[in-house]
Amino acid sequence: MDNSWFKELVVYQIWCRSFKDGNGDGIGDLYGVLEELEYIKSLGVNCIWFSPLYPSPNCDYGYDVADYKDIHPDFGNLDVFKEVLDKAHSLGMKVIMDLVVNHTSTECEWFKESKKSVDNPYHDYYIWRKGKNGNPPNNWLSNFEGCAWEYVPECDEYYLHTFAIGQPDLNMDNPKVREEVKSILRFWLDMGVDGFREDVITYISKKEGLPNGFPLMPIARGMEHYNKGPHFMEYMQEFREVINEYDCFVVGESPMTGPADAIRFASGDDRILDMLISFDHMSADCLFIDMVHLPFSLKRMKKAFSKWQKYLYGKAWNALYIENHDHPRIISRYGNEKYRTESGKMLATMCFMQSGTPFIYQGQEIGMVNTKLHSYSEFKDVMTFNGRRLLRKIGVPDFLSIKLMNRTSRENSRTPVQWNSSNYAGFSTVEPWFGVNKNYKKINVAAEEKDKNSILNYYRKLFKVRQSNDIFIYGEYKEFYKQSKKIYCYERRLGDKRALIVCSFVSRPVEFKAPLGYKLKRSKIVLHTYKDKPKAKKNTITLRPYEAVVYLYD
Ligand code: NOJ
Repeated sequence: MDNSWFKELVVYQIWCRSFKDGNGDGIGDLYGVLEELEYIKSLGVNCIWFSPLYPSPNCDYGYDVADYKDIHPDFGNLDVFKEVLDKAHSLGMKVIMDLVVNHTSTECEWFKESKKSVDNPYHDYYIWRKGKNGNPPNNWLSNFEGCAWEYVPECDEYYLHTFAIGQPDLNMDNPKVREEVKSILRFWLDMGVDGFREDVITYISKKEGLPNGFPLMPIARGMEHYNKGPHFMEYMQEFREVINEYDCFVVGESPMTGPADAIRFASGDDRILDMLISFDHMSADCLFIDMVHLPFSLKRMKKAFSKWQKYLYGKAWNALYIENHDHPRIISRYGNEKYRTESGKMLATMCFMQSGTPFIYQGQEIGMVNTKLHSYSEFKDVMTFNGRRLLRKIGVPDFLSIKLMNRTSRENSRTPVQWNSSNYAGFSTVEPWFGVNKNYKKINVAAEEKDKNSILNYYRKLFKVRQSNDIFIYGEYKEFYKQSKKIYCYERRLGDKRALIVCSFVSRPVEFKAPLGYKLKRSKIVLHTYKDKPKAKKNTITLRPYEAVVYLYD
């Protein structure tokens, strides 16, 4: 099956709980999605990715699945999901689901059976081990914080959870578990969905014997024994056989992977994934994880993007993103809230003019920024609470850790989408499950719709330019001025067409001289982020704060 159409998609991610409440209970749902499908379409989007919609006790907001073949009652039911799916299709949009099979919820029937006794037929669905001298089976730590093992007296054994206690890891070595995964794939594909985003998929195969991890790792200790583990390729090939029966695509979340892994997993006809969600470019202001915050380094960000762009070109395909439900808002990170509109448009240009499939996250298109919470009682996310515990252990008081959380936590991307300036930002008619960002009167969809120079209207233009010029989809990438700490400049090239993308990352005017071989005046400006186009003098322009411009030579 030739599924190369995935290269021409623009994907919009919905984290349903905070998208739009359509039934007045303060929680976003599929009724709300149904109301806004035309809006999503109007952005130039042709695919929707739903973060998990399945029944779940929400210890990790849906990434702890209790039933893989149903819809959470908070969101609706299978009938309304089908309605959303059909309507999206009729509008020319594909729909992909989140597939979370590294782990389930402790509320999943399989786990409830599994923990009853060591003889239960479901016991081997999970990774159970005896303790060692009264201690857990090995020194692994969860990706969220704390020990990765939980003791269950009924079995006198520990189960492995590489994430929260409520997220036991499945034992993928058990062929019955792999059959379950295939059956989940078929269930949704038979219903008509167009693919999957596969959650931490590189974690599914654990090294035999579960050896101790590198002892100095403060979180995710042991990861070297299960990320891209021994049977990963083999199990994925098995799943791919099902995928290949349908006209669909899969994108895999792949922590700690490099371009060489992307080539291994996502190139050739026998690829196991069509794209990878990688993390390199999301670490330009932190050390591996957002919470270990560092000042933003443009050079680090550019290096990461360029590495993936160069390495993958002609061999594998990139997934382009700068926001999702796991990271703070990008304007607050790599841009500047004081120049919200300017930096919001520039960041969109910087990322989505590159080679790959764009993924945008709800609210990104209107330039939503980080929120501000004052007490831990306002926070919701298991990762925040675990982070707080870790910081307390090393003596950081709450008033300081809250500051860090406000800057680095994923709560920032989970506040309700701001639709208009009415109560609760038009997200709901009653108090929402999570506090609306206080800035909603200024930043909302209605206000952005009205303003012809808004971020929202810029996104529309950008995707139109991208979809109507092959060069922005298929062109080769080359970076200029790598050492600049102010400007990111790259070219795209396809046949004898060329494009030059220029982005300023500073709040002061900065001079930009066109690279050798480029005559600015001979080009067509196809995108510019300020009302008026920059004017070239002697092949030089002065970029205004966070300005971006795209020159096309065809
Ligand atoms: C990655 C998901 O994106 C994140 O939200 C979740 O907490 C972990 N995987 C565990 O499923």
